[in-house]
Amino acid sequence: MEERTLVVIKPDAIKRKLAGKIISRFEEKGFTIENLKSYSFTKEKAEEFYSVHSNKPFFNELVSFITSGPTMALILDGNSAINSVRIMIGSTKSYEAAPGTVRGDLALNITDNIVHASDSYESFIKEARVIFDSI
Ligand code: CMP
Repeated sequence: MEERTLVVIKPDAIKRKLAGKIISRFEEKGFTIENLKSYSFTKEKAEEFYSVHSNKPFFNELVSFITSGPTMALILDGNSAINSVRIMIGSTKSYEAAPGTVRGDLALNITDNIVHASDSYESFIKEARVIFDSI
């Protein structure tokens, strides 16, 4: 099923100059980049983007991290994009992420875990609208 998803390459990956490597993985897998944008979250936009986590103990740390530097946001298009991209990025806890996944190969932490990807169609719509004017 042809579908779209949102990927955000987080500030830790941008600082480590890993964006090109990460984007290549999605292109090599076969996804089409439908839109791509350098994006710096304000505190308000970060709180909106991560509102589902607003009651979690790590919420402030998460907002502080995602606003700490520029990100790169991509809308990817392809077969079962939401599920496939989630499998490709690996476990949220990077230290448990399987080798071969983005986090498994490139990260060790939870908060600074390189990438975010939407976990459902509803999340995709909500999250992409925070970043892109039209989706
Ligand atoms: P992400 O996929 O962007 O979705 C929510 C983010 O919250 C997650 O990646 C992590 O960066 C962060 N996160 C999830 N669980 C924790 C946790 N236990 N402690 C700190 N940050 C977390």
